[in-house]
Amino acid sequence: MLRLILPDTRYLASYLAAMREGFRIGIRDIPPEEEIQKIEQDPFDHLEGINSQGGFFTPPDGIERKRVPYNDYWLVNETDFIGAISLRYELNDFLEVHGGHIGYGVRPSMMRQGYAKKMLALGLLKMKALCIERVFVTADDDNPASWKAIESNGGVLLDKAPSIFHEGHVRRRYAINIKD
Ligand SMILES: CC(C)(COP(=O)(O)OP(=O)(O)OC[C@H]1O[C@@H](n2cnc3c(N)ncnc32)[C@H](O)[C@@H]1OP(=O)(O)O)[C@@H](O)C(=O)NCCC(=O)NCCS
Repeated sequence: MLRLILPDTRYLASYLAAMREGFRIGIRDIPPEEEIQKIEQDPFDHLEGINSQGGFFTPPDGIERKRVPYNDYWLVNETDFIGAISLRYELNDFLEVHGGHIGYGVRPSMMRQGYAKKMLALGLLKMKALCIERVFVTADDDNPASWKAIESNGGVLLDKAPSIFHEGHVRRRYAINIKD
């Protein structure tokens, strides 16, 4: 059975294997081997850090902003880590235009099996449970796997604009109504 869970040491070995395959969420970097080894040596510190709240971040426009409340969930079956989804419960001016509420990634060995579509559907249920009625999600125009997952979850294209994350690329911005 597929479910979203908070990061859990029971899936650590599978998570590390996914990282070594090149798993990443959205625009986050693929961690180098040294970083993966550090996580292997001190997994508790890493897992705790995944959902630490507060602090600041500086997006590519160079303006520092407070981090919004969020959670990273893992998509798992009985034995395997499959992917992860980052749910941001509020937007700031930057996220409203460039990043949206949600980012996600599926481990390479499990891509093209419908997991992104399923993970996004489960993520939207969590947003709905928090009474969030309209969700913005962005995807690069040249990442059809991502925008098809959004469209199959009811995403309506709002606009296209130059990507601030990937120079020379175009990002699509979608809205998904989850009220009903
Ligand atoms: C984008 C990503 C999450 C898609 O995951 P996935 O599990 O392979 O996606 P799914 O199997 O659910 O497929 C979703 C749709 O895209 C299609 N698709 C999948 N891979 C595709 C590809 N490489 N090219 C074109 N279409 C593709 C599927 O056929 C499906 O279409 P359908 O709705 O018409 O059936 C995955 O490629 C990934 O992790 N990429 C790196 C991180 C990233 O780009 N994240 C998204 C930005 S937030």
